[in-house]
Amino acid sequence: MNILVLGGAGYIGSHAVYNLIDNGFNVVIVDNLKTGNKGAIHSKAKFYDGDIRNKNFLKTVFKNEKIDGVIHFAANSLVGESMQKPLEYFSNNVFGTHVLLEVMNEFNVKNIVFSSSAAVYGEPEVVPIFEDFSTIPTNTYGETKLMMEKMMKWSSLAYGINYVSLRYFNVAGARSNAEIGEDHSPETHLIPLILKVALNQMKEITIYGNDYDTYDGTCIRDYIHVEDLVDAHLLALNYLYSGGKSDTFNLGNNRGYSVLEIIEAVRRVTKHQIPFKIGTRRAGDPSILIASNEKAKKILGWTVKHEEIDSIINDAWNWHKLNPTGFKKNLTSQFN
Ligand code: UFG
Repeated sequence: MNILVLGGAGYIGSHAVYNLIDNGFNVVIVDNLKTGNKGAIHSKAKFYDGDIRNKNFLKTVFKNEKIDGVIHFAANSLVGESMQKPLEYFSNNVFGTHVLLEVMNEFNVKNIVFSSSAAVYGEPEVVPIFEDFSTIPTNTYGETKLMMEKMMKWSSLAYGINYVSLRYFNVAGARSNAEIGEDHSPETHLIPLILKVALNQMKEITIYGNDYDTYDGTCIRDYIHVEDLVDAHLLALNYLYSGGKSDTFNLGNNRGYSVLEIIEAVRRVTKHQIPFKIGTRRAGDPSILIASNEKAKKILGWTVKHEEIDSIINDAWNWHKLNPTGFKKNLTSQFN
């Protein structure tokens, strides 16, 4: 079966590609390498360098390859950045998905699994968050993911495109054998930044606000191991191919950690002092996001193998120790 992975050179996309190839799928990657890494591209995947908003380019890919299903990761995904550059997010995320759905419809490709986000919920009234909670995003990024979901819903009704929307909570960790990991530039995510402090590449971590209405005043997030997360994509593909109806699922661990608790966990795992300072709040940040993952467990048969935060951080740490400056630029992965 041929699976087109859009954004397959990115952090989550590359882990999904490795998992698909481990499970015998043929993989075609499209990535514009704006945020993805060449070094994260699996040597057994066929790679097209281009932007999904370029319709002629995308049509060429669908013309050349017999695509059986699509997994769509290609998007800008930073909460803070989305508040500074909203139009870039609407263009890449919303318009990009629009072009993709047009091309899928033209080529009669009917199944798509795509990355949505916990950011669609905004500030929840209670946790854990269930899929039927109201969606009132507090940032542009979440708004674009919600618009993508809505485009999928109406396209599904009109064109019979079946979708599974996966609402990710905070994805962390790396492939357990440390072949690939998380490398953004610039890095903005909490765990890789704290690991940079452990590696002495940064003096300290800045906590974005300690005046939230949480038990220690810092934001609470639900961290899910990237390998558990990508497992759910294969289950979702399988679900669609078995005739499952279009649906939306949370992917999280059902457990929250504050920023201070994450710093403490990194200290335990790395045995390094992690100095921090308190900064101001970051625009767009909800105070608390914790998933109910019952629905994905029940309907997709998903299981979370890495429940412990220390095990998630440990896998991230192993990759960062081996790759302190990230992927080697312009090279394929050292393991390929
Ligand atoms: N944080 C800090 N200091 C930093 C970086 C982050 O205090 O230097 C805090 C943030 O304010 C937030 C928490 O750590 O409270 C996690 O921040 P990240 O930037 O690691 O992740 P986000 O929660 O902003 O966003 C991530 C993904 C989104 C996804 C969201 C879902 O990047 O794509 O999780 O919860 F939508």
